[in-house]
Amino acid sequence: MIIKEEYKIINKKKNLYEHPRSLIIEALKIAQIKYGWVPNKEIVYIAKILSLSVSEVESVATFYSKIFRKPVGKNIIYYCDSVVCYLHNADSIRKNIELILNIKLGQTTKNNKFTFLPTSCLGRCDYSPIIMVNYDIYTKILKKDIINIINKYL
Ligand code: FES
Repeated sequence: MIIKEEYKIINKKKNLYEHPRSLIIEALKIAQIKYGWVPNKEIVYIAKILSLSVSEVESVATFYSKIFRKPVGKNIIYYCDSVVCYLHNADSIRKNIELILNIKLGQTTKNNKFTFLPTSCLGRCDYSPIIMVNYDIYTKILKKDIINIINKYL
């Protein structure tokens, strides 16, 4: 569970906000940094320390795509599945990533090196198609670029 020191920080901040809901994201981020994802027990614990319902915390955790509710690989490859990237051949990029990693969108490689996830628009439509690996954005990518991008993270 979130360690006592982290709990103290969250508890202290409770008084700074009108509603403890404002701290849900911060608490989820703490849990995710600790585990790499947010297990159910942490959702329950966060609800308890913020005096909220479990469903309130869960609804926030599942709303944000960057909060992981199941274990993920060491590197996250985000594939923009919004319309502008789609119109710029993003689907062939997706297929090529799936082929190289031997997984489908939403899955993690057996060696836990990569998780491949969809994301909505990354705000760089004029440079589409786009993928993001962890915090690195790759723009105007071509199918042939994929293998070199993946190799950077092996
Ligand atoms: S649609 Fe892909 S970055 Fe905007």
